[in-house]
Amino acid sequence: MNIQEIQQFLSLYQTEQNESELWLKNRLQAVKDAGEYHPTTEELVFGARVAWRNSNKCIGRLFWQSLHVVDARDVLDEKAIFRKLLEHIDYATNHGKIRPTITVFASDRVRIWNHQLIRYAGYETEAGVIGDSQSIEFTKVCESLGWKGKGTAFDVLPLVIQVDSRAPQVFVIPEENIVEVPIRHPESIDVEKLGMKWYAVPIISSMRFQMAGIDFQAAPFNGWYMGTEIGARNLADHERYNMLPAIAEIFNLDTTKQASLWRDRALVELNIAVLHSFKEDGVSIVDHHTAAQQFKLFEEAEKTAGREVTGNWTWLIPPLSPATTHIFHKPYVNIYHTPNYFYQKPCY
Ligand code: ARG
Repeated sequence: MNIQEIQQFLSLYQTEQNESELWLKNRLQAVKDAGEYHPTTEELVFGARVAWRNSNKCIGRLFWQSLHVVDARDVLDEKAIFRKLLEHIDYATNHGKIRPTITVFASDRVRIWNHQLIRYAGYETEAGVIGDSQSIEFTKVCESLGWKGKGTAFDVLPLVIQVDSRAPQVFVIPEENIVEVPIRHPESIDVEKLGMKWYAVPIISSMRFQMAGIDFQAAPFNGWYMGTEIGARNLADHERYNMLPAIAEIFNLDTTKQASLWRDRALVELNIAVLHSFKEDGVSIVDHHTAAQQFKLFEEAEKTAGREVTGNWTWLIPPLSPATTHIFHKPYVNIYHTPNYFYQKPCY
């Protein structure tokens, strides 16, 4: 245990949760006497929320205090962990009214091999990549563990769960636990025919939650999507689903000249389609203009609370029309406070 980190965390907790000086003194003494720091559930809840507040790349931080935190540190059986993950998916999905949620598993004992709990497989074929190219390597890992996908562009990968040094176990997520949104356009019926879809909830499961010097390697968390993540990146990137040429054809754009700005026009139509489809299906999503306004409110709230907002400008600006948001026009200090969420080495 790192007493300095613990001290720093507990004193942050004391200040923000209005505990007394005496409380801090006693809590620290108890930790020193025990020779180990096992956060209470209340401390864990606070830590996970502040970790979101400190996430420099995230534009959605206004809602950090609403994070629903599940303390699953005592769940150490692979099958029971799988059930907890299904509960997370259900609670977070909430029939479309998405609830930001994190489930925290035991420190140094549990790993979830997936990048997100729900994500599409990617296959290299002679005819090119089918599905999500970002999943190619992990898809092979799942196959080597005995899983077999259907070979479509939207096969949901199984969950791969590891406890201690035991062999990883593979679990298929039942279809009824997964909400997906078919992508259609409010003015063109042809977009629907492209067969694009995306899942409702992005649940990052590969990052390490760190608080008070403790690492929680398995702590899957989710918010709701900002439309551009799907419409300007996942479905649009040349190295992902590369759908801009197909959209351009539907909208009769001149793809023979770069200067016709067909990519830009196709991007706007695709993003309109994503926002429209999620809205119509009653699945939470935010457009980048609203998200930027909410981030402004976050900046103001932090200022009022006497804290400096840290941020990673390169991530905070949306990939579509960035200069239409206030974020584009000001600098952000990219220093990392803890608690926070960090990248970690993949298990495979
Ligand atoms: N950008 C990632 C994706 O498209 C998801 C990252 C988390 N996003 C979020 N809105 N919480 O799958």
